[in-house]
Amino acid sequence: MDEAITIYIDGNPVSVKPGVVVAVALAQAGIEHFHRSPKGHLRAPLCGMGTCFECAVTIDGKPHQRSCQTQCRSGMRVETENA
Ligand code: FES
Repeated sequence: MDEAITIYIDGNPVSVKPGVVVAVALAQAGIEHFHRSPKGHLRAPLCGMGTCFECAVTIDGKPHQRSCQTQCRSGMRVETENA
């Protein structure tokens, strides 16, 4: 069994299994909303296959990354865009 890795979600350390995508890590951490629409509505993953961009978060300083298409890497810093 692979050892867990640590990522940081909004600054908080979270242990996840290697290979898990960021959207799953966020859901496992209890985060329901990942970002806000241009009109300010809270958004969450919809398609799970990379087409809707509703799962967008900031990853390692790069905004608007699709969390459903990005595997977790040790030390990764994920920021939700809910503010
Ligand atoms: S959930 Fe649709 S692009 Fe990620």
